[in-house]
Amino acid sequence: MEYKRLKIDECRDGVFNIRRKVFIEEQNCPESMEWDENEEQSSIYFVAFKGDLAVGCVRLRNIEKDLLKLERVAVLKEFRRRRIASDLIREALIYAQSESPNSPVYAYAQVSALQAYVNLGFTVLSKVWIEDGTFIPHQTIFWGTPISIDTFLKNQSEKADPSYEDYDARSPAMLPKIEAFKQRLEVNNY
Ligand SMILES: CC(C)(COP(=O)(O)OP(=O)(O)OC[C@H]1O[C@@H](n2cnc3c(N)ncnc32)[C@H](O)[C@@H]1OP(=O)(O)O)[C@@H](O)C(=O)NCCC(=O)NCCS
Repeated sequence: MEYKRLKIDECRDGVFNIRRKVFIEEQNCPESMEWDENEEQSSIYFVAFKGDLAVGCVRLRNIEKDLLKLERVAVLKEFRRRRIASDLIREALIYAQSESPNSPVYAYAQVSALQAYVNLGFTVLSKVWIEDGTFIPHQTIFWGTPISIDTFLKNQSEKADPSYEDYDARSPAMLPKIEAFKQRLEVNNY
């Protein structure tokens, strides 16, 4: 498996093929919610290739100053449970940390995929909420320092998005996980 970091113009066909199969055909998400050329252009993609075939992708998007969002995590059905999504998410986090060290990363994770993110050090910030349009259960997750979690939550509540009342982010149990992941990055010389 080969992993590449690309702009959308370098991987459009492969990435759209994955997203069509996974989100539109498999998960029945409305096509109108899937493509937004502005979002594609302002994003970085991490793509897994088996030979010439793009089999998995992750999109990293700059939402505002010092805040990144991980989106459109998808792996073709026949390539799942081989750590491809985990590897792609890890690549994205390593890139985020090196290029934009002050920017935490958040995502709206499908509940069925939550464990993959938690394994990589994400904190679960919200209860389960249902996404408009797709009706897929999600939870808001976050990768960053406890201080950046505080800032994020303050800003998010102003946006009246999902409710974050019962988040567990400031639990002291989370600190060793965040630190352990950062140390793993260092050990691997990323
Ligand atoms: C979710 C998805 C991206 C995972 O891709 P993947 O390459 O198979 O994931 P990984 O092999 O890296 O899995 C890592 C861990 O995540 C968890 N996980 C992944 N898929 C899971 C599933 N279907 N059910 C339960 N746990 C799952 C497991 O803990 C897994 O570790 P394990 O294999 O040691 O048990 C893939 O199943 C997919 O494309 N699903 C449809 C689209 C989707 O739900 N996208 C997520 C949007 S947030």
